[in-house]
Amino acid sequence: MLQIPKSTRKAGQLGFLLLCVLIAQCNGQGFRRGRLVDGFLGAPNKVSSMQLVRVLEAEDLWFEQRLDHFKAENTHTWQQRYFVNDEHYRNDSQAPVFLMIGGEGEASKKWMREGAWLHYAEHFGALMIQLEHRYYGKSHPTSDLSTSNLAYLSSEQALADLANFVSAMKVKYNLAETQKWIAFGGSYPGSLAAWAREKYPHLIYGSISSSGPLLAKVDFSEYFDVVKASLASYKPECVEAVTRGFAQVEILLKHMIGQRSLDEKFKTCTPLKDSIENQLDIASFFENLAGNFAGVVQYNKDNRPNANVTIDDLCVVMLSNTFGPPVTRLGMVNSLILQQSNQTCLDYKYDKMIADIKNVSWDSEAAKGMRQWTYQTCTEFGFYQTSENKSDTFGDRFGVDYFIRQCMDIYSNQMDAQFLERVVAQTNKYYGALKPETTNVLYVHGSIDPWHALGLTSSQSAKTPTIYIEGTAHCANMYEPSNNDPPQLKEARNKITKYLAQLLDGYAASAKFS
Ligand SMILES: *[C@@H]1O[C@H](CO)[C@@H](O)[C@H](O)[C@H]1NC(C)=O
Ligand SMILES: *[C@@H]1O[C@H](CO)[C@@H](O)[C@H](O)[C@H]1NC(C)=O
Ligand SMILES: *[C@@H]1O[C@H](CO)[C@@H](O)[C@H](O)[C@H]1NC(C)=O
Ligand SMILES: *[C@@H]1O[C@H](CO)[C@@H](O)[C@H](O)[C@H]1NC(C)=O
Ligand SMILES: *[C@@H]1O[C@H](CO)[C@@H](O)[C@H](O)[C@H]1NC(C)=O
Repeated sequence: MLQIPKSTRKAGQLGFLLLCVLIAQCNGQGFRRGRLVDGFLGAPNKVSSMQLVRVLEAEDLWFEQRLDHFKAENTHTWQQRYFVNDEHYRNDSQAPVFLMIGGEGEASKKWMREGAWLHYAEHFGALMIQLEHRYYGKSHPTSDLSTSNLAYLSSEQALADLANFVSAMKVKYNLAETQKWIAFGGSYPGSLAAWAREKYPHLIYGSISSSGPLLAKVDFSEYFDVVKASLASYKPECVEAVTRGFAQVEILLKHMIGQRSLDEKFKTCTPLKDSIENQLDIASFFENLAGNFAGVVQYNKDNRPNANVTIDDLCVVMLSNTFGPPVTRLGMVNSLILQQSNQTCLDYKYDKMIADIKNVSWDSEAAKGMRQWTYQTCTEFGFYQTSENKSDTFGDRFGVDYFIRQCMDIYSNQMDAQFLERVVAQTNKYYGALKPETTNVLYVHGSIDPWHALGLTSSQSAKTPTIYIEGTAHCANMYEPSNNDPPQLKEARNKITKYLAQLLDGYAASAKFS
């Protein structure tokens, strides 16, 4: 779940907060269910313009992949995209292969030229390969994204893609059986990296799993608990001001003068008085306001210069009495996020959002990943970032029913609450949730990142170590190292290097890391 920085906030979608990168773009339509338009993990963006030319020149490679790995009679195939960088490859019988797993957005070529894993590859002489996830980016298994065509979109099929791909690359690159494959991934691909080792241990020797949720859960209320805690880490008064702001929104909503005042403060595209009877519109309105904070927290100070709105900025606004009452300051935060994402008004209409996500065309905006990822939440993971407690900071307006309703409205009436409970239970049984039966996986999380709440943050066994980084956000360890990184982040990357050395039996000649 690394994401790409140029996404824009579009009119009319709900906030999906999963694993992504840019704040400004992590909001409203741009940031929904914890994910940016392009995915959870933001693309890195430190490449120089000269490097960028090489990035853009890097070839798209294509692999003939099976549509359905679990039905032998289905012989349909499609073209899956991948990238290779062999610049650092030592090309001997011990040289490792590093496999970056693509996720719920287009795979970014920039990862082939930067990011922490590139330095690990230099150090260990690894061949670097990135495989795009089926149904995302340019990897299109079906002619469109109709609900029946999405039947082949699942983490299980994606892992089987990886297995098939690894087997084929061994032949294509003439790799020896002694060459170890190490999987990398951040956010949902962080989960996939761990699961790839668990399910295909003969193909994947070990994994570095960053910010990957392991526990599927319909009602992910812990998400906003971490958002609150992260805001409180600036100052507890910051959360109190946000709480008061949301309470004032509720009061203003009760009468027409208040509604008009909210329209002005929050730059709504459509007047609230016309939506006040529609609980789904109001839920979406509140989800957008909460998403303004979630998007900033999730990507706080990660190493992408575009992500320049921070928790500190939001809290400075929320704590400035001179700007007016807390609700007015909430409006200022909203304006800041709208501006950062090039939106002129806040589009909170539920039906518009649903209509956008219902578009089955590969050319649609939703096909950047929103339609596919929402489908995966409805059929495998849940992960709904709810707030349904009146006395809580973000109020009680977007509970689990609101999200399940979206599954039903977008894909199928059958995706009701019981359906969600069944699929989520199945996912947890299949992968083992927070008690995975596996070895050689290092799980890395940051304390600021709300997703750590569903991940493994303390080690259960020496075979599955963990690194829990105090004060860093989603996938922070994956980005290009910078001198400004906090010491605990530098330390985490050093630990990852040491762990890789252990997995690879100390196979490394150069000592660039020392
Ligand atoms: C590795 O070396 C072999 C033998 O020299 C060569 O044929 C092959 O192209 C090399 N592979 C890569 C990926 O450089
Ligand atoms: C973020 O960066 C943009 C463009 O570089 C700049 O215009 C804006 O003022 C910055 N915002 C903050 C809060 O630093
Ligand atoms: C916002 O619009 C400006 C000017 O059109 C453009 O340069 C910038 O890249 C846009 N930002 C985003 C996040 O799309
Ligand atoms: C779906 O999106 C495409 C591309 O933006 C657009 O041309 C088409 O009209 C949309 N279809 C519907 C039903 O809105
Ligand atoms: C609602 O939130 C309050 C304050 O955080 C808490 O004391 C209470 O237990 C919560 N109620 C429920 C039903 O979760």
